[in-house]
Order: sequence, then C-alpha cells, then structure tokens
Amino acid sequence: MARYAHITGWGMGLPQRVMTNDDWAQLVDTSDEWIRSRTGVVERRIVGEGESTLTLSMEAARQAVEVAGISPAQLDLIIVGTLTPEYVIPSTACLVQDGLGAMHAAAFDLSAGCSGFIYGLSLATDSIRVGNCQHALVIGAETLSRVMDWTDRATCVLFADGAGAVVVSGSETPGGVLSSALGADGSGGDYLIVPAGGSKLPASHETVDQRLHTIKMNGREVFRFATRTMNKATRLVCQKANISLEDVNLVVPHQANHRIIQSAARSLNLPMERFVVNLDRYGNTSAATVPIALCEAIESGRVQRGDHLVLVAFGAGLTWGAAVVKWGVPLPVVPTAWWRHLLQWLYYRWARMRSLGVRLRRRLEGWRPFRKNNNNNGGHAPSPPPASREPDARLAESPARIEPVAAEEQAPVAESKESS
Ligand code: ACO
Repeated sequence: MARYAHITGWGMGLPQRVMTNDDWAQLVDTSDEWIRSRTGVVERRIVGEGESTLTLSMEAARQAVEVAGISPAQLDLIIVGTLTPEYVIPSTACLVQDGLGAMHAAAFDLSAGCSGFIYGLSLATDSIRVGNCQHALVIGAETLSRVMDWTDRATCVLFADGAGAVVVSGSETPGGVLSSALGADGSGGDYLIVPAGGSKLPASHETVDQRLHTIKMNGREVFRFATRTMNKATRLVCQKANISLEDVNLVVPHQANHRIIQSAARSLNLPMERFVVNLDRYGNTSAATVPIALCEAIESGRVQRGDHLVLVAFGAGLTWGAAVVKWGVPLPVVPTAWWRHLLQWLYYRWARMRSLGVRLRRRLEGWRPFRKNNNNNGGHAPSPPPASREPDARLAESPARIEPVAAEEQAPVAESKESS
C-alpha cells in the first residue's frame, strides 16, 4: 500500500519586539520610503532578552504538535532548518527533542539557508514514504538579528527573527506532499556568507573587530539567482506532480523581497493574489519565512482541502527548493478541547522533570561513590588487572575472520598472461 506524507499540524513562534523602518532610520542612513519601495518590508520582529532560536522553535513546535493532535512521544524525527542555531554543538533539533519530551525522535539540524525548511520537508516526506517514520516535525527557525551587521544598511533592514513548524504524518490517503525538488550552486556561496566562526576563520579579536561574524551579501547577485530559480523550481515541481500551473491554488514563496515575488508571478503568468505575502510584517526570516507564511495562509482561510500549494524558496549556499502539496486536512481545525490543553501542559511539565531527572542520574553515575565495576572506582569495588600491553585477544582474532586472499588467487591476470 502506497504511503503519503500529509501536513497535519502547523505553528509559528515570533519575538515580541516589533522594529519598524523608522526605528532603523534612527540607527543607519536609510528611510522608510527606501525600504518599502526596494524590499516591501514595513516592520519585522527582533528577539529580545530571553528569546532565541530555541524558544521560537519550541513555540512553533508545540503549536504544530497540538494541531496535529499527537503526543510529542509519537514523533519519530525532528529536523530544524536554520542558519542561526542555538549553539554550534549540540543541534537545536536535539534541544527541541528534549524540550518537547519527544523521546522516540531522531533529531538533527540542517543548513541550507532560506531553503532549509523545504529541504527538511522533502527529507521528512521521503522518510515517511519509505516507512522509516510515521510523524516528523520540520521546523524553520532563525534569529538573523544575532548575525547581521547592525551598521550595514544594505543587509540589516532586510533580515529578522521567527520560527515556523509543521508536523508531517504518514497516511494511506492519497495527497499530501506530491513532489519536491532541491538544488544547490555552491559557486555562489560567497554571495551570502558569514566569513568567520567556522573552521577556516575561528573567532579571534581580529575577526570580531572586522565584523566577520556577520552576514555579507551581494544583494544584486542573490536577486538574480532568486528570480531565475523561483520560476524554474515552481515549474519543475508542478511537472513532477503532474499538475499544470493553472491547477496551483496558492504559492507560498520565500519572503525576501516583494520585487522577487512579483517577478516570479510575472514569469509564471500567475496573478499576485495566488501568492502569500507577509514580508511587510516580518521581513526575511530565512528558513522560517515559508512555514510562517503557510501558517498564516491556513489560519486566514486561504487554504482548503484539495488545494494545490507550491512552497518555493532560495537562499544561502546558494540553494533552492520547492514542493507541491495537495492539502488533505479538513479546515478549519476543531479547537483543542480544554482537557487536551491540560494533558499537554502536564506532558510538558513531565518532560521537563524527566529531562532534569536524566541529567541528575547521569551526574550521580559519574560521581565516585556511585560508580561500580569501573576502572577508576576509588576502591569501592575490586580493581581490574592492570591494562596489558598485549593487544586484546579478541581484537587479535578479528583479522583472521577476514580470510586473506590466497597468493595464487591474487594475480590471476598476470598468471594467465604468462601462461598464454
Ligand atoms: N537605505 C538606503 N539606501 C540603501 C540601502 C538602505 N537600507 N541599502 C542600500 N542602499 C543604497 C546602496 O548603497 C546603493 O546606493 P549607490 O547607488 O549610491 O551605491 C543603492 O541603494 C542601490 O543599491 P542596490 O544594492 O543596487 O539596491 P537594490 O535595488 O539591488 O536592492 C536589495 C538591494 C534590497 C538587497 C536587493 O538586491 C535584494 O533584495 N536582493 C536579494 C537579497 C536576498 O534575497 N537575500 C536573502 C537571501 S535568503 C538567505 O539565505 C538569507
């Protein structure tokens, strides 16, 4: 029986603080008029104290899990598409896994720039289709305000913070994610780059002084790449899904610049009414723009069961990704009953206690009096014999299991030549 991957839950997390174009005009040499006319952005959300990629991800994830009507324990996979993870190590996805109490889920971050969410959706879909996974949580989350140069007017007015999430679930009902296509062109990597902080240029006084930990962008080149790929990627996924452009009810594009979206509409010959645009309120939140825009489109009644949606993005890397979704969940969703809210609240409290308990147990296990049968146990148990200089007998045995190729078998070609 064929398996399909449907979006069954969605949610978003936004910072409290709103920053307008006029606020930026007080910090750098710009104006509300320039930003509106060149980008379409009017205001955006910027994280404040206590907010981070993780807190935004958690908010979006909890909503998505609630709408999907599942317990976090049912999640098999968590993918976070982000350029701005909570830490370099561990992944933000693992922190979400712990925070949700999704104890059966594998978790990892994915770095594909603004296409990160669509990359994640595509991988989750494949995982569901082959039967490796029943419920996957895909998040796009960013705090770009933490890596942008607040003195560079060419970039700082564009970027912002936010998170969006979906739950993708396996089903035998046809529909859901019908097709996806991903691509990359690494030769354009330096058009959108944070030069320092990786293995090539680790953090130093010089890298901080030279502002090398912030985004450097060649806006014109990214713009050209964007207009080309939005068109191509949309056509490609429609072809793969066997639908025509006229069948597309709604396009949920990456929200980088309203001129890029208008250009895509023109080249696809689709009216602007079929495009979701919310960058005027949120700016460019990178991997989070598509799930946030999808979430708002659903909640404002722009999505109906049976509709064909195209999700399409481009971004740092350079990367691009697109997907066609045939919407399968009846809308609007029935509001969650009070007792379910209570159960969820209790579950998250339990998850927190569980996490604290596991951390405590791990500490105790590492504490000397609790160690048993350990090499370094402080005399609480008999010490093992001193380590032998001889190789472990089991290791010594193992090469013998791979039978060496007999000498006469090793050079049959040479032998046959000689004999001929
Ligand atoms: N306020 C006022 N003037 C400005 C500002 C500003 N905030 N920023 C740039 N300018 C000036 C420039 O200095 C330049 O002045 P000059 O002609 O005297 O040199 C002039 O405006 C025009 O600059 P351009 O860069 O040519 O402006 P353009 O029309 O190309 O718009 C923009 C720039 C908005 C960045 C556009 O190129 C764009 O949107 N590119 C795509 C960027 C993008 O999508 N990035 C995200 C990718 S997704 C990801 O992975 C994060």
